[in-house]
Amino acid sequence: MRISDSSPAARLKELEVELRPGVSLTEKTSLGIGGTTDQLLLRRYETIPEVMRLLAENHVPYRFLGGGTNVLIADGELPWVVLHLPSAHPGVRIEGNAAFVDASADLGGMVTFCAKHDLGGMEGLIGVPGSVGGALRMNAGAYGTQIGSYVREVELYRASKGEVETIGGDEIRFDYRHTSFAPDDVMLRVKLELPSKPYKEIVTGIRVCNEKRRSSQPLNQKSAGCIFKNPPGGSAGRMIDELGLKGHRVGDAMVSDRHANFFVNAGNSSCADMLKLIDYVRERVRTSYGIELENEVIVWRN
Ligand code: EPU
Repeated sequence: MRISDSSPAARLKELEVELRPGVSLTEKTSLGIGGTTDQLLLRRYETIPEVMRLLAENHVPYRFLGGGTNVLIADGELPWVVLHLPSAHPGVRIEGNAAFVDASADLGGMVTFCAKHDLGGMEGLIGVPGSVGGALRMNAGAYGTQIGSYVREVELYRASKGEVETIGGDEIRFDYRHTSFAPDDVMLRVKLELPSKPYKEIVTGIRVCNEKRRSSQPLNQKSAGCIFKNPPGGSAGRMIDELGLKGHRVGDAMVSDRHANFFVNAGNSSCADMLKLIDYVRERVRTSYGIELENEVIVWRN
């Protein structure tokens, strides 16, 4: 989708929105898959309601892209523009046991920044790639930790009302890789409350998690982490492994040899091939185990 030549372009500039025409999303996602579209960088959160109004008035469809680490994006020319909140480093302010974090901050960077202030609890999240906003909206978790446990307040743009709102952590339901945020809510800032812990102790915890991750996940390959959610009481990775599907490919889309719930882009995989691989594996698991695996990765079709 190109808005480069259309009427909102000039007004967007006034709102300090940077327009990057014809960006390839293969470079913006950890899977290295995705078509081309215009990208808008929203430099000031305060302008978001007006930017959204402008896009609506001009019938410009949009999607918000965070860290791009848990998304599978369609190939070719995409029918929507991509909005992005550029990251601020570190994007975290500490007050006592509270951390006020920008949604665009890097999740791992935030965990280490808090650790340096003797605030822990989130060691398990250290190797989860992506932005704090993305982690928040899907309640990212690993090694027994989930971000939702620490959330006390969220500032978000509520598309249904066209307004920025602050809501309490107790108003949000955090489940396994799922939250009660509306699909079009846009995360802006979060207040976390973290337990005090000596830096050294946190670092030891971080090392243990990093080691576990390195030994079981294909960290040096292009992936979106786990493709499927684990079914209640089960393990998607173990089932796919038991079916002998490690290394199975459709074009350059491949089930990782290291962790069967990671599907990697082993070259120049298209989205279409990755989707075929996902469907194939889902079907094999359904036939053999009678379980319908649900995607963990978010798919943006065109
Ligand atoms: N297993 C196999 N073969 C494999 C992979 C796993 O037999 O190819 C077995 C393991 O040996 C283990 C069990 O399956 O007994 C579970 O595996 P693992 O400990 O690797 O955890 P997981 O359930 O596959 C979950 C999260 C990961 C998170 C890890 C660590 C989901 C879908 N996955 O993986 O999160 O890093 O636990 O906490 O919940 C992600 O969300 O993208 C992600 C990678």
